[in-house]
Amino acid sequence: MKVALIGLGSVGRGVATMLAKKDLGLTITGIADSKSGLIEDKGINITKVLANKKKTGMCGDSRITAIDVIKKADYDALIEVTPTNALSGEPATGYIRTALNRKKHVVTSNKGPVALSYKELRALALKKGVAFRYEATVAGAIPIMHVLEHGLAGNEILAIYGVLNGTCNFILTRMADEGLTYEQALMEAREMGYAEADPTYDVQGIDAAIKLVILANTIWGNGVKLADVDRTGIDLLTADALRLAEEEGCTIRLIAEAIPRKKLIRVSPRIIEKTHPLVVEGTLNALTLETDMAKEITLIGRGAGSIETASAIIGDLLFIRDCHVQRP
Ligand code: HSE
Repeated sequence: MKVALIGLGSVGRGVATMLAKKDLGLTITGIADSKSGLIEDKGINITKVLANKKKTGMCGDSRITAIDVIKKADYDALIEVTPTNALSGEPATGYIRTALNRKKHVVTSNKGPVALSYKELRALALKKGVAFRYEATVAGAIPIMHVLEHGLAGNEILAIYGVLNGTCNFILTRMADEGLTYEQALMEAREMGYAEADPTYDVQGIDAAIKLVILANTIWGNGVKLADVDRTGIDLLTADALRLAEEEGCTIRLIAEAIPRKKLIRVSPRIIEKTHPLVVEGTLNALTLETDMAKEITLIGRGAGSIETASAIIGDLLFIRDCHVQRP
């Protein structure tokens, strides 16, 4: 299968590195970052492009833009991994629309288009007979969308609770375990490539709220929006509050929860017992689904990171290639 890769930040480089390393039958024929692009119908030498990117900051020719690649390259699936803009969803939504209109499958890790334009993009994909998949937008490497779509098919999902932001979880863990200040821990998270391009998205709970919106729309199709989420971040949390919780055998985690029967959709720091299944360490995410048949299921895995997110993207691509069927 031929793919075009748009975005060469932490996630894009992770995808490119894994496609160069593993023989998965996925060939990159178009690539673009924010400054340049490259189109080669017979396949791009990714190792060379990554080396070039490291040296010059560009992956290709400055006269070729992302939209040129999306419109002109020969590919079956677009991989859209540019940074999230939660206010407009652009330019990613436009990129995705253009590819779907060309009858190309789309796989994205970009939360903006899915949170803001889910219904429209899904309907467009359906109309054009292609897939629109977004596993990587929620909980990093945890295959939550596949579990909802396949493993729990036929179940009614009654509620979801989870730790959905790896950066906040990393910061809270580092503050509690190593006594780092909030600022030191945030700096580390940024250096490790966990945080969003704009880390206020992480620490103010916006990223977790967007993921909750994506989950709610996927599960219940209820059209909830970011503004509907009752949201508090960890940016105002003090080291003292964390220490007091620890003294009581508890800790603090940023919990996202959606419970339709209570009309509740919220992201907030919560004091929870250390033995609770949602108390996970570092960049781990955890997600509990309350269902009618399967009862409670908790999934735990890496919620952020270049290669971990690449895992979700590559899973979507191979699913499209090997298993995609047109479904209403
Ligand atoms: N910044 C996000 C996080 C990346 O820390 O969870 C994964 O969506």
